[in-house]
Amino acid sequence: MARIAFFGAGYAGLVSGACFADLGHTVVIRDVVPERIEGLRAGRVPFFEPGLAELIARNADRLSFTLSMEEAVEGSDFLFVCVGTPPTASGDANLSAVWSVIEDLPQDLGPVVLVMKSTVPVGTGEKVRAELDRRGLTQVGYASCPEFLAEGTAVHDFLQSDRVVVGAFDPAHGEAVAALHEGLDAPVVQMEIPSAEMVKLAANAYLATRISFINEIANVCELVGADVEDVARGMGLDRRIGTQYLRAGIGFGGSCFPKDVSFLKLLAGNSGYHFHLVSSVVEVNELQIRRPVTKVQRHLGTLSGKRVALLGLAFKANTDDLREAPSLVLAARFLAEGAEVVAWDPVVDAHEFLHGVELADSAAAALAGADAAVVVTEWPELRELPWAELRGTMRNPLVIDGRNFLDAEEMRTAGYAYEGMGRAGSPFAALAETEEPGSKLRQ
Ligand SMILES: NC(=O)c1ccc[n+]([C@@H]2O[C@H](COP(=O)([O-])OP(=O)(O)OC[C@H]3O[C@@H](n4cnc5c(N)ncnc54)[C@H](O)[C@@H]3O)[C@@H](O)[C@H]2O)c1
Repeated sequence: MARIAFFGAGYAGLVSGACFADLGHTVVIRDVVPERIEGLRAGRVPFFEPGLAELIARNADRLSFTLSMEEAVEGSDFLFVCVGTPPTASGDANLSAVWSVIEDLPQDLGPVVLVMKSTVPVGTGEKVRAELDRRGLTQVGYASCPEFLAEGTAVHDFLQSDRVVVGAFDPAHGEAVAALHEGLDAPVVQMEIPSAEMVKLAANAYLATRISFINEIANVCELVGADVEDVARGMGLDRRIGTQYLRAGIGFGGSCFPKDVSFLKLLAGNSGYHFHLVSSVVEVNELQIRRPVTKVQRHLGTLSGKRVALLGLAFKANTDDLREAPSLVLAARFLAEGAEVVAWDPVVDAHEFLHGVELADSAAAALAGADAAVVVTEWPELRELPWAELRGTMRNPLVIDGRNFLDAEEMRTAGYAYEGMGRAGSPFAALAETEEPGSKLRQ
């Protein structure tokens, strides 16, 4: 078993560090934020991620937390870089946290392998290698091992990985990093570093493409009277297509998809290639996020003075991450149209982020007095609400379901004007009411 240092106690570093401890390795996690490290030492997990607190507690004797670079590298065989790589103003990757880890590495390091888990543009490995060599740190190996976990299911995603991707300059380092994953029932795919870096960007851009694709299908469904839920089910059962990431809604957000798609688009552009498809994926998503505003306007006319409830703020269920969340765009758009906005989320503490938005303690409180509600996050709690009872508490019972999460029929029976995304009404529902089944289909 190895001793591994992790740099960055965020979603990627803390989850993967705790999972490596679970595999039997000794793990020390270094961060630069004192409160984060103090909290972790006191047993507090700094963000909401199902199963993580239990995993950390279970492996407490193999896991430690530090602010000190020296303590992290002392005796470590591998140094995993898991710091944030947010977009710069130009949309390219801001690698300053990555470079600060490299700059802080002590000169007297032993023969360790530096492993890049942060998502970085293709070519970063070459640059880091050149910098290590320039500093005379030729004994430090370099590998790329991109992280594929998704927030909300991160622990499961790591421990039940579909695959592990490893790139290395020296095959021996690739083998050593692959061996760390023993105990996982996942194929390890080894390749050159630029390819490993590209796998991560390409995988996220592809998943984002599926989302924008089904969202455009949903928008066309609304115009032609098809139901995207039926369409996606019918498509997804085709084994060549599959059902994952084929849920229509208000688009993707979060700390990974938007920035990784942008990284790929700009990486291509900076290399002289216009990646038309990913450019469209970004544009479709930007417009999709705003669609509920138009839908509410179609029902209510001007939004000035109208009260709109946002149900859910996190970019998806089971996380408290607000980075690039559609809720931020929606809140800003509704406010700009003169609406009063009230929001509820079971885990996000949005006080710092949503200026001008009233925060409600419960979904029921958010609905009270509202002229419209928008389901922004597919929190299971929303399915459990006593919708029929709550209808009378709204000033106007309009629900725009941005995640196609609620039962359309139940909502309409409960007296709501209910609209999903791409669910304007299935032709089969219309057919059921006609005398002559099939006539509509033949038209
Ligand atoms: N969040 C995800 O679901 C996810 C999934 C796969 C890959 N990734 C990638 O992993 C990387 C990290 O993402 P994240 O969501 O965990 O970010 P995050 O912002 O949650 O965490 C990053 C952590 O790094 C710390 N940090 C900054 N500089 C440091 C330094 N010099 N030394 C040690 N720690 C330092 C920060 O204080 C912060 O706690 C990104 O490149 C991201 O694209 C993230």
